[in-house]
Amino acid sequence: MLILQLILKKQKNITYMSDRLFIFDTTLRDGEQVPGCQLNTVEKIEVAKALEELGVDVIEAGFPVSSPGDFNSVVEISKAVTWPTICALTRAVENDIRVAADALKYAKHKRIHTGIGTSDYHIKYKFNSSREEILERAIACVKYAKRFVEDVQFYAEDAGRTDNEYLARVVEAVVKAGATVVNIPDTTGYCLPSEFGEKIQYLMEHVDGIHNVTIATHCHNDLGMATANTMSGVMHGARQAEVTINGIGERAGNTSLEEVAMICKSHRELDITTNINTTKIYGISRMVSSLMNMPVQPNKAIVGRNAFAHSSGIHQDGVLKNRESYEIIDPKDVGVDENSIVLTARSGRAALKHRLHVLGIDLSKEALDQAYEGFLRLADKKKEINDDDVLMLAGEHHKASHRLKLDFLQVTAGVGIKSVASVGLDIAGEKFEACASGNGPVDAAISAIKQIIHRKMLVKEFLIQAINKGSNDIGKVHMTVEHDGVSYYGFSANTDIVAASAEAYIDAINKFVH
Ligand code: KIV
Ligand code: ZN
Repeated sequence: MLILQLILKKQKNITYMSDRLFIFDTTLRDGEQVPGCQLNTVEKIEVAKALEELGVDVIEAGFPVSSPGDFNSVVEISKAVTWPTICALTRAVENDIRVAADALKYAKHKRIHTGIGTSDYHIKYKFNSSREEILERAIACVKYAKRFVEDVQFYAEDAGRTDNEYLARVVEAVVKAGATVVNIPDTTGYCLPSEFGEKIQYLMEHVDGIHNVTIATHCHNDLGMATANTMSGVMHGARQAEVTINGIGERAGNTSLEEVAMICKSHRELDITTNINTTKIYGISRMVSSLMNMPVQPNKAIVGRNAFAHSSGIHQDGVLKNRESYEIIDPKDVGVDENSIVLTARSGRAALKHRLHVLGIDLSKEALDQAYEGFLRLADKKKEINDDDVLMLAGEHHKASHRLKLDFLQVTAGVGIKSVASVGLDIAGEKFEACASGNGPVDAAISAIKQIIHRKMLVKEFLIQAINKGSNDIGKVHMTVEHDGVSYYGFSANTDIVAASAEAYIDAINKFVH
């Protein structure tokens, strides 16, 4: 492969600026756009600091003009983080750019990410415009952003479906206008790896001045090819990969950071290095999953629960004899410590604090006190508390500020009897009670809550998952509740799945009852 790369570089007469791949993390922008994954500013700062420790080069902190919350998060992340460049997204609109520049005022290294759709689909249907007009707008937004910051990244939205010749004209024009990085997104996740690689190669060969800027990939996973497309782009000259933790992102998600980092680390023949401290990967993966209430699929590459689990006898035997027979990654390289300490009811507050720190979470004293109380309650019901349990407990303190809380829940359920639930709610300090029956314990509990709230609410999605194994395990409940035509996401975890369901329902209601 190394030889192939060298031949490729020689044939194309390409001198890469370096074989260092810059990692641009957009978990807090593209990832956070996913319904139900919204974080508050404090949580975003927690993630941004963990990204800094992980070694990412650029953090896309938000889209400041989109909401005061996003604006504020960019401001606070800029203050909290030192080494990575902080990037703010804009449309090709002057006001967006001014607002982004303002939000970035405290960043030690700042970048504005501006751009416009370049495919004929976008030009015709989104902008009702022409290629020439879009070209002018692309130049104008880069020039305008340059008035505020030196580092300006341009994105050609839907570049994956943009005609290469026109794309090359746009890229050349924005490079001339002063762009320092040009992002080539496969916005719809449509491209084949060979096609996407050829697109990057075409730009490398046809755009004047391209070797003075960095070309970035930003691939979506609609057809499951985001990582393959990113790596194909990198092998053809891109030197910035735009990624998210656990591959979260709109629809089927974005390219996942951990996959790109581990591909570069494992395939040395590619001669591509990143600044990622891979041993921090597992901790930040679990932190993002827990804060965003977004489970990691068990068979997810690198960070899934089964990624290093060998269940077949043949594989287990092979691994015991020589790990490399079936494993290409040492779990320790991604921070999975198979001998990790399991906490029990006898573990103290310091042990919990230490475990959280290892997982990338440092709680305030009050939040730790609250997590420890929850820990003791859980340890009473469950003998061993593992990392997933610990992360779930760490997320609980966010519920303290909720207006609606479950005071008590009693259910009668079984075979041959009707399920009945009595529920007590605390609404901003006032106590309410109701009783209802249903076709099962969850239905009865939800009907009782509805009797107190008196609003039209429809459960659209309801998912119960066990964190680990064993009948004493915690059940995680994800629920989507529709109210006034809008969907609200709720989450809870409890060893009692009926209680977890009622709490998830209340969590969703808290998002629209003020
Ligand atoms: O997918 C996309 O095209 C984007 C751009 C805004 C960079 O997220
Ligand atoms: Zn995107």
